[in-house]
Amino acid sequence: MTAIHSVKGRRVWDSRGNPTIEVDVRLEDGSLGRAIAPAGASRGTREALDLRDGGNRLRGKGVANALRGLNERIAPALIGMNAADQLSIDQKLLALDPTPIKENLGGNAMVATSLAVLHATAASAGKSLWQHVADHYGCTASLPLPEIQIFGGGAHAGRRVDIQDFMIMVPGAKSFDEVMEVTNEVYFAAGDLMSSRGCLAGVADEGGWWPEFKSNEEALETLILAIEKAGEKPGDRVVISLDVAASEFGREGRYRLALEDREMDSGELIDLLGSWLDTYPIVSIEDPLGEDDTPGMVEFTKRHGESVQIIGDDYLVTNADLVEQAKADGACNAVLVKVNQAGTVSEAVQAFSAARQAGWGAIVSARSGETEDVSISHLATGLGCDQLKVGSFTRSERMVKWNECLRIQEELGTDTFAAGRALRGTWWGRKQTGMNR
Ligand code: PGA
Ligand code: ZN
Repeated sequence: MTAIHSVKGRRVWDSRGNPTIEVDVRLEDGSLGRAIAPAGASRGTREALDLRDGGNRLRGKGVANALRGLNERIAPALIGMNAADQLSIDQKLLALDPTPIKENLGGNAMVATSLAVLHATAASAGKSLWQHVADHYGCTASLPLPEIQIFGGGAHAGRRVDIQDFMIMVPGAKSFDEVMEVTNEVYFAAGDLMSSRGCLAGVADEGGWWPEFKSNEEALETLILAIEKAGEKPGDRVVISLDVAASEFGREGRYRLALEDREMDSGELIDLLGSWLDTYPIVSIEDPLGEDDTPGMVEFTKRHGESVQIIGDDYLVTNADLVEQAKADGACNAVLVKVNQAGTVSEAVQAFSAARQAGWGAIVSARSGETEDVSISHLATGLGCDQLKVGSFTRSERMVKWNECLRIQEELGTDTFAAGRALRGTWWGRKQTGMNR
């Protein structure tokens, strides 16, 4: 047993320039674990609360109260506990704040603490974090397939397009490094195309291009052209992935695409997305309907669950009970795992395990507000997750996570790259084995 000697929280700053929380956990043997809480902008209503001070200062985003709870309540409770017993640590955090969304201590204070403990234990054992995660949870480590944003939209780009993420994946790649190279080509081809057409307005929150498209579909058309300009045949080595983040433009089964000045009900949105799935090589779609639209999610999954990956993000908020409920309902076939949505490492791993139990895919994800913290690259690898989603291909808070995977790849060896394995249940996977779409 290596006991916790000290827990210290401090205020640091995230990629949007907002304050956030960093935690140092020091063990009796001198090992240090450090982690920083990320922050979402398109948040699910049922996720762990990001505790902020409110008021006028720092646009209401101060973390003084969360830090006070951390240093005065969390730290004394954890000192002396066995750091290697992650579950007991996380249960202690939950006992200190048993509210469903962690509104007393804040999910931001909790997640940074929980992750810092995980790091400290890995350091104490002299292991890389991914190795510690694999050993601790009994998983076979493998490098995830990146899901990389090319255009940002929704809440991450002034709602300039309604759909939040237009992404690519390179499941036909043989290594992580090859994914990086192909992504570079597609990313810059997209930028060139957009600037030549006068529809490039800058870079969005996650590093993707900030577009000035006239319709959501124009983004898809441009993405296809960019893939071709990069020398690839869309649907072969490179495929498209969308995060619709529909809760951002709809509730109670009514949706409004502002860009196209179009109101629709669930059925019409399902038809529209279905027409995109028919036309473009889209292999994965996240939150196609709103977080409160179970009938819509069930209908969408009934129609497309056999051919594409359907991920619940806001719909499942990294919660094992919601994953089990969705499985019973027939909604989704994959879960997005965001540790700060759950609040603790143990709860995030429980959501991951529930997804595996259901035979689902699992995608570890960053938030739109990020930092230099690379914990999720290790978590995705250690758990053997299918994909890793950290935003685009610029800005260091994104690149630091891709670059960390390259280092992990050297430790693992390329033959453990998950790549196409992740998508074998989709039309793309069937195409690889010679079966029809
Ligand atoms: P968020 O968005 O981090 O702003 O909540 C990311 C996502 O929806 O996947
Ligand atoms: Zn999402």
